[in-house]
Amino acid sequence: MSHNTILENQKRQPLDHLDSVWLFGYGSLIYKADFPYLQRKPARIHGWQRRFWQGSHDHRGTPEHPGRVATLIEAPAESCVGMAYEVTPDVFAHLDHREKNGYLRFFTEFEWLDNDGAVEGLVYVAGPDNAAYLGQASEADIAEHIAGATGPSGPNSEYLLKLAEALRELKVNDPHVFAIESALQALPSRRLG
Ligand code: SIN
Repeated sequence: MSHNTILENQKRQPLDHLDSVWLFGYGSLIYKADFPYLQRKPARIHGWQRRFWQGSHDHRGTPEHPGRVATLIEAPAESCVGMAYEVTPDVFAHLDHREKNGYLRFFTEFEWLDNDGAVEGLVYVAGPDNAAYLGQASEADIAEHIAGATGPSGPNSEYLLKLAEALRELKVNDPHVFAIESALQALPSRRLG
């Protein structure tokens, strides 16, 4: 599969007949909302965990030296907290472009953190069959990798550090993200965003 997913996403889910759509963000979509939204609320999805296993050729790295960014990995006993946004369907033109490096959108259920309600919405997931996928590595190795990568959106370290800060604000304990953050901050040559 090509790592540019724009056309595939447009084909799999035409959204124009809807007044609004919920989007679940678990990576940079938590802290960088560079799109208009009607409302946003912290939410959780079940059966997935956040992992820095996706390569970034277009934001936090280059095709020659990809960065490492977040994707979701299926994990039936786990859940992942993030931020949900209610957006109008036209916003997906921007989102599909932003998430084009291997991410496909899926409908799934999110549960609100502050009450018992739930809603169906979209989430972008970069699966193991996409061309930019890097896969599992130790948190220490991921930190080394992140420290050495930069791309058009800025240093890869900035992505990780901003996500860790946003998760702390949401009062989320994500051992994977915080272990990478600690390892990154312990590196003598770290590049802070
Ligand atoms: C997301 O944040 O939900 C997807 C991955 C990213 O854009 O960082």
